[in-house]
Amino acid sequence: MMDNSSEGLTHVNQNNQGSIVFNEETMQLVQKMIKRYPEGKHKSALLPILHIAQAEFGGWLSSATMDYVASVLNIKSVEVYEVASFYSMYNLKPVGKCVLEVCRTVPCWLNGAEELVSYLEKKLSIKVGETTKDGMFTIKTVECLGSCGTAPMLQCGASYHENLTNEKTDLLLEKLRAENTRKSYTDNI
Ligand code: FES
Repeated sequence: MMDNSSEGLTHVNQNNQGSIVFNEETMQLVQKMIKRYPEGKHKSALLPILHIAQAEFGGWLSSATMDYVASVLNIKSVEVYEVASFYSMYNLKPVGKCVLEVCRTVPCWLNGAEELVSYLEKKLSIKVGETTKDGMFTIKTVECLGSCGTAPMLQCGASYHENLTNEKTDLLLEKLRAENTRKSYTDNI
């Protein structure tokens, strides 16, 4: 079940039985996205629909969720798996409410990305790719997020956190803990 306190896309939820299915309102949004593309090119809506599905169904894409998205788009499941496994923004296993995606590409690396990752690992007592026991944080490293001038930085949900120092990182973790909500790329939709 989706966390009741989740932000963004609050209009989407699993149905009462907990099965993988968009509710009516979400399905309308999905159909709107599909209609943005010409007839026969509906597969192009896959990326945004996967974002919605990930936000809806616990922050990650299970096989059942990907099969469901395939059925909505009337494409093969393997076509969804191929896309979902290619992009780092899709999680193929359960993650914490806040996925801390630290950019590790050269400009960030030169400006302290490694130190930032080490600091997060120490503060949260987890390694990259792991989730804290309380289910709050997951650390990931990703490639350039297009914010090289404000390195080092990380993305959490739809928000960028830039020019990070240890002090700023402490404040960010405190704030995220206090909010205690699942962050999603769709938070600003
Ligand atoms: S290198 Fe980190 S945002 Fe571009």
